[in-house]
Amino acid sequence: MTRAPSAAAGDDPTLLAEAVARRRNFAIISHPDAGKTTLTEKLLLYGGAIQQAGAVKARGEQRRVTSDWMELEKQRGISITSTVLQFDYDGCTINLLDTPGHQDFSEDTYRTLAAADNAVMLEDAAKGLEPQTRKLFEVCRMRQIPIFTFINKMDRPCREPLELLDEIERELGLAPWAVNWPIGSGERFRGVIDRRTHDVILFERAERGRQAAERRLSLDDPALADLVEPELLAQAREELDLLEGAGAPLDLEQVHAGEQTPLFFGSAMTNFGVRPFLDAFLELAQRPVPRQSSDGPVSPLRPGFSGFVFKLQANMDARHRDRVAFVRVCSGRFEKDMTVQHARSGRTIRLSRPQKLFGQDREVVEEAFPGDVIGLNNPGVFAIGDTLYSGPAVEFEGIPCFSPEIFAWLRNPNPSSFKSFRKGVNELREEGAVQILYDTDASKRDPVLAAVGQLQLEVVQHRLEHEYGVPTRLEPLGYSVARWVEGGWPALERIGRVFNCKAMRDAWDRPVLLFRNDWNLQQLQEDHPDLGLAAVAPVVSGREPIAL
Ligand code: G4P
Repeated sequence: MTRAPSAAAGDDPTLLAEAVARRRNFAIISHPDAGKTTLTEKLLLYGGAIQQAGAVKARGEQRRVTSDWMELEKQRGISITSTVLQFDYDGCTINLLDTPGHQDFSEDTYRTLAAADNAVMLEDAAKGLEPQTRKLFEVCRMRQIPIFTFINKMDRPCREPLELLDEIERELGLAPWAVNWPIGSGERFRGVIDRRTHDVILFERAERGRQAAERRLSLDDPALADLVEPELLAQAREELDLLEGAGAPLDLEQVHAGEQTPLFFGSAMTNFGVRPFLDAFLELAQRPVPRQSSDGPVSPLRPGFSGFVFKLQANMDARHRDRVAFVRVCSGRFEKDMTVQHARSGRTIRLSRPQKLFGQDREVVEEAFPGDVIGLNNPGVFAIGDTLYSGPAVEFEGIPCFSPEIFAWLRNPNPSSFKSFRKGVNELREEGAVQILYDTDASKRDPVLAAVGQLQLEVVQHRLEHEYGVPTRLEPLGYSVARWVEGGWPALERIGRVFNCKAMRDAWDRPVLLFRNDWNLQQLQEDHPDLGLAAVAPVVSGREPIAL
């Protein structure tokens, strides 16, 4: 990577502006199996970050090589995720923030989106929108993150392209703008038409994982007739005409507002359409943007370093047995050994071993710029949402609590270990490993663990046992939806008795209603249309949470 000369970069506005203009940052949102790992591998190939596909999630032969370590992590119940992958391509420095998939699904997945400037929504062309994609989309929408859509697996039988676009528009309220359009699909997938250049990029079945040579022809080239069945080409042209006639033009402002999504068709496995996608992404994606603080937006060009913690991870590496706080750099230049302020505690901290993580490997970071992510050793100082800064004081808006979907009583069968139990529960909550709810009946003292993914519960139990020496028991509660009551306890008391739901207190003594299903939630809303219910809890500042 070409680096700006270190010496004066922090003070040099031009160098800082250049570093910011070069940065792109994104997270991939998708449902398990849509091809996120495969797409990530292919993107990294272009950055020269890995030599061959398969380095991200070991497959086949390679699986055996790396899996021992992974197994170890799994036994501990700790997910190993790469968290952030940085690579350089075409003059840009790209940060890909990893959102763990499926079995790892947890609040981390949501929080990671708080650190992303752009999202890539990956769909399986045969399936279209799937549940996890929708959930993650909602978080993107809340933050108005620009979304780029990649429709994957075009080499396999798939749904009608127009239908896929319609689904996105109808169900997400997001206007798709197809940057390319497919010619055929499945066995008869022949390539795509680039809508802006009117080139045809031909699909050639290459050996799996190999970088297919890209063959481009003009849409008017007579040679096309020998390469693509005329009826397939005619159909693609017809559909393109339809799009031109019906939709609004590509509008960067709308893209950046998260209202329009540039959409691409391709096949990650065969590496078709990935490079054109990356090129267009670099062109259209949002650069690191100002972040909201308690004093208004903070520009990435603010000379002093600032950033916030969006994720904490314990025992990331078997060899280090440490805890890492991931910090998204928001402004200025970060450099190794710098001394920063910790906004919440007012403490001054020297950041002596900042790390950049690449999968399981880590290297010490010398410097970082807005849009980058750094890993800091966390001896229990940092909590989710904390701000670090140098220069004039800043404090970023915190990261909200997201609606949990899994609830369980946490029982401590051994009363003599109550002190360790309490310490463990309080510390793990502070770390953001899980949300804690309490019964409104104060005589029921056991806490309820509330999580968005099963893994979170397993991690908490495992860590309580191994780090605090307290084996625990979980008793699931049969609820799956939580809503915070707007207006707090008085609002809840005003409506009187509520049915088919359970009221609990969160760690800030706010009322949370738990429902068995969406239907019960809907029912309550119909009965009490004036009662405001929020799926995301506002950030609380300046007040300490209730400890167990
Ligand atoms: P994920 O991380 O989103 O869960 O998905 P992943 O990349 O692991 O891909 C899920 C499956 O889909 C994999 O097959 C992968 O090879 C396949 N896949 C990904 N992209 C494409 C594509 O463009 N076309 C086709 N035909 N398949 C694709 P698998 O059989 O589950 O795993 P493996 O045996 O290939 O490792």
